[in-house]
Amino acid sequence: TPPPAVNEPSLSYAPGTPEREALKETLKAMKAEQRDVPMTIGGKKITTDTKIAMHPPHELKHTLGHYYKGGPEHVNMAIDAALEAKPAWEAMPWQERAAIFLRAADLISGPYRYKMNAATMLGQSKTPHQSEIEAVAEIADFFRFNVQYMTEMYEDQPLSEPESAIWNRVEYRPLEGFVFAITPFNFTAIAGNLPGAPALLGNTVVWKPAETQIYSAGLLMEVLEAAGLPDGVINLVLVDGPVAGDIIFEHKDFAGLHFTGSTKVFQSLWQTIGKNLPKYRSYPRIVGETGGKDFLVMHPSSDVQQVVTALVRGAYEYQGQKCSAASRAYLPKSKWPALKEALIRDIKTVKMGTVEDFSNFMGAVIDERAFDKIANYIEIAKKSDEAEIIVGGGYDKSEGYFIEPTVIVTGNPHFTTMEEEIFGPVLTIYVYEDEDFEATLDLVDSTSPYALTGAVFSNDRYAAHKAIERLRHSAGNFYINDKPTGAVVGQQPFGGARGSGTNDKAGSIINLYRWVSARSIKENF
Ligand code: SER
Repeated sequence: TPPPAVNEPSLSYAPGTPEREALKETLKAMKAEQRDVPMTIGGKKITTDTKIAMHPPHELKHTLGHYYKGGPEHVNMAIDAALEAKPAWEAMPWQERAAIFLRAADLISGPYRYKMNAATMLGQSKTPHQSEIEAVAEIADFFRFNVQYMTEMYEDQPLSEPESAIWNRVEYRPLEGFVFAITPFNFTAIAGNLPGAPALLGNTVVWKPAETQIYSAGLLMEVLEAAGLPDGVINLVLVDGPVAGDIIFEHKDFAGLHFTGSTKVFQSLWQTIGKNLPKYRSYPRIVGETGGKDFLVMHPSSDVQQVVTALVRGAYEYQGQKCSAASRAYLPKSKWPALKEALIRDIKTVKMGTVEDFSNFMGAVIDERAFDKIANYIEIAKKSDEAEIIVGGGYDKSEGYFIEPTVIVTGNPHFTTMEEEIFGPVLTIYVYEDEDFEATLDLVDSTSPYALTGAVFSNDRYAAHKAIERLRHSAGNFYINDKPTGAVVGQQPFGGARGSGTNDKAGSIINLYRWVSARSIKENF
């Protein structure tokens, strides 16, 4: 039995630490080299004639390398490779599958640490801290805790044997067929977990990362191979989503979808899968984590500075591009003057720029499409007489996709930026009358179609518990007196319901159960 998992500690990269120098050296070396990312199918490195350049979102003139874009033939090859690898992988003792992922975790937290961090900093514009907590710590946690949960799952035999000479048992088989993993740009850790969790349980996977995460995805593939992952277990295809979808969702052996991305895409994939049901051997497992419009509610009893710090970190770390980011806040009128002053003061200290300058708190948003969408929301606020921008509102894409941390204040709790997911550094605030705290909770619940994360700040336990009760279905990750971001594997399993996903809790035993198909065996002897 593998040892119980322990969370990987994050390094600080504070001035004067050896890790700071090591990371800087790694960044320099990776920038000097051109890293080309091929597809990996059945263990083979596949290049094509279509080479696409990759640039840091904060330094568009620099080229990190190229990736080789594939077409339909590569999707077919990946499916074939996954199906070919399946029997041996499924038959491998689970302890050996576990060992591969434990080794991958040790490689990430050991020899590959700075490279994983640097690749995520450069490719996805994360600060050293934001990169460390997920591209190193969280991904290692996913691999290690999944092994622990798999062990618990396999040992779970809740069966009675009422008569002698009968042995009942449950066998946790992997799904029959292959799993399709679609991963987003915003967390390298998710790119590890979405193909990794089904693979750990004996499934084989076709993995399609977001185009804007390919730089770190290529490195992650290298780590998995170095850990001993057999050929064909995880197949990395670099194709447009519809190219993959058109083939995969028509295939009789399609067995499951592990998805993180937008609500709209997830719904359309689910519809396609529904339409194709008669083509499949089994009902496919569909696991998705999608959008969010995450809230922070302050009760008048709570502390101004504590809330301001939570807002600044919750709304602007990683440029607001966490699905968990605080994007709407409900603040009490009695505290508003002090809050406003402290918020403006603190946001004005936020430094934004290249993430290679370690003193910056924010980098750039991921790409031009995201930049334009976020800028459009800022313009909506600028043009409206229902909203006021009290800080930020500027944006510039001449060097990189930079958007200032922006606060919109509105008297309309249903203003567009209170309701719609922006996925950028834009926070909208609604100020409520103190005596309306409970009515405000109703507003929080009814304003958005999502239910991913939320935070309530209160030093009054009665009010906090009112919020816990009233907002029962409003968030899958609920925080009392903490920002709504930064869930830790093994501590706060992550995911939400409603428009936010199937709530199968990434990095938990609930998620792992979705990748097995149990068989009950009764044996008389
Ligand atoms: N798990 C991340 C967080 O909690 C979001 O994906 O911030």
